[in-house]
Amino acid sequence: MRRLVRENRLSADDLILPMFVKSSGEDEPIEAMPGISRKNPKRTAAEAAKAYKSGIPAVILFGIPDDKDAQGSASWRDDGVVQTAVREIKAAAPEMIVITDVCLCEYTDHGHCGVITNGEVDNDATLELLAKQALSFLRAGADVVAPSDMMDGRIGFIRSEMDRAGFSDRVIMAYSAKYASAFYGPFREAAGSAPEFGDRKGYQMDPVNAREALREVELDIEEGADIVMVKPALAFMDVIQRVRQITDLPLAAFNVSGEYAMVKAAAKAEMIDEKQIVMEILTGLKRAGADMILTYHAMDAVKWMGEI
Ligand code: PBG
Ligand code: ZN
Repeated sequence: MRRLVRENRLSADDLILPMFVKSSGEDEPIEAMPGISRKNPKRTAAEAAKAYKSGIPAVILFGIPDDKDAQGSASWRDDGVVQTAVREIKAAAPEMIVITDVCLCEYTDHGHCGVITNGEVDNDATLELLAKQALSFLRAGADVVAPSDMMDGRIGFIRSEMDRAGFSDRVIMAYSAKYASAFYGPFREAAGSAPEFGDRKGYQMDPVNAREALREVELDIEEGADIVMVKPALAFMDVIQRVRQITDLPLAAFNVSGEYAMVKAAAKAEMIDEKQIVMEILTGLKRAGADMILTYHAMDAVKWMGEI
């Protein structure tokens, strides 16, 4: 009877596995994210192929280059870490959907998501660089670009550059409602992308606002987003639900690094039942209205799906 009346189901089809790509060498475990490591492009492809076999349809890649500079120029080199990983994944698992995170913070020496002019993040100068990066990922074979920088106007700018370059059939997943959140802490350790000075409050959203999130989503849709996202997920489930009500576009929720780290830490201390908690979180995000979930629990979740 419960099967008949169940309102929401989690399936492997809903999940996107985030991965950190470095240039070479052995896997490097990320201390704050037990079970997750930085991997070279070949190892990334092997993991992606494994994920695809277990039913996960998509991965999202974050690049950790060897060399960072003020502009983040390592991000638009056609032999960059992400570009190389995209090609390796497409060779190992051609059907795997490859999403690439588009932002400068993983590639800049100052750690900000945009370029700095007179001590401030320069919104308009950043747009050109983001588009350069996105086009380079697309040339490597990425199916989806996911701008996470939160500069104003970037979706429209990248969309028109994609059209001009002949990539009008590729997809933009917009990090539309992205909050300035402490839940990104472990990610910044993983990517070495914590800002050197100041914070991201000038471009990411204030966590106390919800109506503003709806405006951000509306703007990204007008500018040409194909998928919109709310991030983080757990403290913002009301936002997920409200975004669901204003658009019929596919909606993604990012179950971020800090949310993952909390579950892992509590599970390690034997304070919670990890399996039950993870499934409750992921099904809860679907109930709130998410069509797809970016989650570091993806590999575990598919394993546990048959069991709960
Ligand atoms: C890059 C980016 C971040 C995340 C996704 N893309 C970090 C940030 O904005 O500081 C966070 C993902 C996570 O915490 O799991 N802008
Ligand atoms: Zn960034």
